[in-house]
Amino acid sequence: MLFGAMSEMTEARRLVSGRAFDEDARIEATVRPANFGDYIGQDRVKENLQIAVEAARNRGEALDHVLLYGPPGLGKTTLAQILAREMSSSIKISSGPLLEKKGDLTAVLTGLELRDFFFLDEIHRLQPALEEILYPAMEDFRVDLIIGQGPGARVHPYQLNRFTLVGATTRAGLVMAPLRSRFGIVHRLDFYTPDDLEKIIGRSAKILGITIDPEGAAEIARRSRGTPRVANRLLRRVRDFAEVRAEGHITLGVARESLKMLGVDEHGLDETDRNLMLTVIQKYAGGPVGLNTIAASLSEEEDAIEEIYEPYLMQLGLLDRTPRGRVATALAYKHFGMEEPRRQPGLF
Ligand code: ADE
Repeated sequence: MLFGAMSEMTEARRLVSGRAFDEDARIEATVRPANFGDYIGQDRVKENLQIAVEAARNRGEALDHVLLYGPPGLGKTTLAQILAREMSSSIKISSGPLLEKKGDLTAVLTGLELRDFFFLDEIHRLQPALEEILYPAMEDFRVDLIIGQGPGARVHPYQLNRFTLVGATTRAGLVMAPLRSRFGIVHRLDFYTPDDLEKIIGRSAKILGITIDPEGAAEIARRSRGTPRVANRLLRRVRDFAEVRAEGHITLGVARESLKMLGVDEHGLDETDRNLMLTVIQKYAGGPVGLNTIAASLSEEEDAIEEIYEPYLMQLGLLDRTPRGRVATALAYKHFGMEEPRRQPGLF
């Protein structure tokens, strides 16, 4: 893992992180939609993929390689699994940091059957030497096997079956042009609307046998920072509260009380988000302040800040990224009930 022990500890306590924890993986396997019909939200991406699947199926071909990017927890893995299922194909799943040796990647590629899927999560963290293997594999369905060692080693081109690589990344900017250009289909996943999240919560509740009022579901949805993984996680915590304090039924009041106790505010912000914003506002006069400075102030990894905290704070309009650093917006001052300082025009 690239992320240090400290940030993992912080992460583990973060109820509103989009990154998956072990418990999420178990639950997600239960509630994850298996086909496009059950998949809620991301309508533009879904429609485009449905058309690509139907066309490929009609031609009897493998689907073009697909690159999905966007913040964690929005359903990239789920979409890859749906694609494989809709193409009646198998899927193998790995991730950039899990593949350590060239042989790890070659073994997966040579094991793929015609029209199979290979889902490669966190593709931006794949080692450069392994990325080199992907180029001919994606383009010509070929890998060069090295047989033997030392001066006697020989290169044997090996023809792969035509397959589909689904690459996923939270950091599109870190996928270099030569790799990016080899994907025929590229889509960004956006944060979900509260309406879509409410439907997702209703659906998960039904599958998990949780009784919930529509108003309770809407309240959890509003505080789930546009992220189904967070919505499903909050649903489980609110259920615990409902079972212990409220006869197991989630009403609006139960949801509000429970989320307040969990430290998740009405916009889905938690302690770390608030600390981040207050650091920019109070310690650095609203910015601009560099990412590394913020990270050091909060004892957080820069990566986690850029990947999880900032996208949502920016979406809410509380934080801006400028060439000179991060800046708290006028709305942020309003949100925290503070007076915005007069800044010199043209300062940033
Ligand atoms: N669970 C998590 N994400 C989902 C989605 N997009 N649609 C339905 N259920 C989900």
